[in-house]
Amino acid sequence: MPLPAELVNRVRSANALVVLSGAGLSADSGLATFRGTARSLWHNRRPEELATPAALANDPELVWRWHRERRRLALAATPNRAHAAIVELAAMVNRCVTITQNVDGLLQRAGATDVIEFHGNLFLDRCSRTNSECVPERAEPTAAVPHCTQCGAALRPGVVWFGEMIDSAVLEHAVAACDSTDGVLVVGTSATVAPANALASVARRAGAWIAEINPAETTISRSVDHVLRGQAGDILPAIADLLDA
Ligand code: OAD
Repeated sequence: MPLPAELVNRVRSANALVVLSGAGLSADSGLATFRGTARSLWHNRRPEELATPAALANDPELVWRWHRERRRLALAATPNRAHAAIVELAAMVNRCVTITQNVDGLLQRAGATDVIEFHGNLFLDRCSRTNSECVPERAEPTAAVPHCTQCGAALRPGVVWFGEMIDSAVLEHAVAACDSTDGVLVVGTSATVAPANALASVARRAGAWIAEINPAETTISRSVDHVLRGQAGDILPAIADLLDA
C-alpha cells in the first residue's frame, strides 16, 4: 500500500510525536488481541471473572492462573518489526512519547524509552489492600496466590482492571503529551476502551494531525486525517524507511 506523501511529510517535519498503541501492536509477536478474532482474549471469557477486584476476591487462584499464563506468553514472545520501527521513528524526532495500553513490556524490550504504560505492567505485583508495589518473593512463584509480606493481603497483578481509574500521574502525563504533540500515530487499538480512546481527540483539539494504522475500521477511523489499512509490522517500518531515505 503506497503511503500518503502528506503523512510522510508530516512525520518528517514533526518536532513532537505521540504513538498511541494497543494490542494489535503485539499481534505480529503472536500475542492475542482482546477483541475481533476467535483467538482474542475476551472472545469466550468474561472479563468480570478475570480482571476485576471482585474476581480476585471471588476466585484468586483463577485470576492468578490466567495472569501467570499471560506473563508466560508475553515473556516467550519477542518484539516485532512494528516495535522496532517505533524505536527508529522516536530517534528521528525531537520528542516521541509512546502511550501504550499494552502491559506486555515488548516496547521496552525493543528499546523504547519514553513509554507511558497506560494500563500498567503485567510483571509488577501490587498489594490488593494498599496498592503499593511489591517485589515478588521468588522469581518462580510457589504459592497459588501470592500474599503481601507487609500486611498479608493477596497480591494482584499491576495492571488496570475493569472499572478502575487510571493512575492520576499516568493520566496527566499522557494528556500533557497529547496536548503538546504535532501528530499522533494510533496503532493497533480498537479504540473502544475509555479513557485511552479519548487521547487522540485531546491531541486533535490541540491542533495535531492523527493517523490510524490498523487492518480494520475502528470507532475513530472516521475522525482521523489518515487511515492506513494494514498490519503495523508492515506499515510502521515502511514509514521509518521512507524517513530514513
Ligand atoms: P483490541 O483487541 O480491542 O483491539 C485490537 C486492534 O488491533 C483491533 O482494532 C485490530 O483490528 C487491530 N489489529 C490486529 N492485528 C493488527 C496488526 N497486525 N497491526 C495493527 N493492528 C492490528 O485491543 P485494545 O484496543 O488494545 O484493557 O484494547 C484496549 C483495552 O481493552 C486493553 O488495554 C485491555 C482491554 O480490555 C484493560 O485490560 C484495562
